[in-house]
Amino acid sequence: MDAAFGLASVLLAVQGVGASLFSFPRTYPNITACASEPITYSCENTAAIQNTCCTPTPGGLVLQTQFWDTYTGLEKEGQLLPKDSWTIHGLWPDNCDGSFEQYCDLSRQYDRKPSPSVLPDGTTVPAYTGPGVDTFIGKFGRLDLLAYMDKYWVSQGSPNADFWGHEFAKHATCTSTFDVSCYGPDYKKNQDVVDFFDAVVRAFKMYPTFDVLAASGILPSNKTTYPLSLLQNALKAQTGAVPYLGCGQNGTVLQEVWYFSHVSGTEQFGHYKSVDSTTKSTCSATAGIHYYERTPASEREVRVLP
Ligand SMILES: *[C@@H]1O[C@H](CO)[C@@H](O)[C@H](O)[C@H]1NC(C)=O
Ligand SMILES: *[C@@H]1O[C@H](CO)[C@@H](O)[C@H](O)[C@H]1NC(C)=O
Ligand SMILES: *[C@@H]1O[C@H](CO)[C@@H](O)[C@H](O)[C@H]1NC(C)=O
Repeated sequence: MDAAFGLASVLLAVQGVGASLFSFPRTYPNITACASEPITYSCENTAAIQNTCCTPTPGGLVLQTQFWDTYTGLEKEGQLLPKDSWTIHGLWPDNCDGSFEQYCDLSRQYDRKPSPSVLPDGTTVPAYTGPGVDTFIGKFGRLDLLAYMDKYWVSQGSPNADFWGHEFAKHATCTSTFDVSCYGPDYKKNQDVVDFFDAVVRAFKMYPTFDVLAASGILPSNKTTYPLSLLQNALKAQTGAVPYLGCGQNGTVLQEVWYFSHVSGTEQFGHYKSVDSTTKSTCSATAGIHYYERTPASEREVRVLP
């Protein structure tokens, strides 16, 4: 009798756990509510977007941005660049005309050094002083995500987690599909932060800059330079559009790439379609461009080699 009762309550308990853990969908925000939305790419919609949880609005020109740094400045602390890979900068929601918003929700301000610290409308962005956003990732048990970010989302001149907090506060709070109101009643604090980091990593993996350039024979070199058109054509051949390339030192040193997209669906789960950059390259169209080798002590092997 007792045993039977015990078994029944165990089964009930297991079913209870099952219901909360395995009910579908487990997408956040819940994209089931998006299935009835008109199908369109962001910035290509002809009717106004009704549900901004389903399509990034107004920031529908989505930029996956990357850096080619040759050092981090925190080598002594073990903050090293990933060998044979560019690094993540972020995922930005530009408006369709190329303008953009920033620090859109000061209740989710995790940037220790806001830049700018005063918005165009005069609003001050207070500096964040709480725990690093890396602790949020840990709280959700996503050590896999944290390990990936530490390898590929590497800051220059500040600890990685400070850079991640900056990117979330400045850009993700202006991306409507990460709005807290999209999550519904079972929202758990900082879930949006972790979901944003997942989305950034997913988008970064779509654009393996190092490998695409290497396939065209374009490797970091301190002996040669490359024409801008060669770099652009190599990237366009794999993405279908010309990304923005950013250069320093009067347009002669390659430092950045921004991949522009329109997105069908959410930034987290939808499809990205490459579009040409709306920003003119700062790299020289006439002078050769340096794609420098890194200082060997500034990088480390991150792949698992056989
Ligand atoms: C997701 O949204 C749909 C439609 O709004 C709803 O029926 C469903 O219960 C939601 N699922 C979860 C897990 O919240
Ligand atoms: C920068 O580049 C422009 C155009 O390529 C050139 O006219 C100018 O002299 C350069 N300036 C310096 C400081 O090298
Ligand atoms: C290549 O040149 C860059 C820029 O001057 C320098 O920082 C880097 O250490 C050099 N790398 C190698 C392997 O010589």
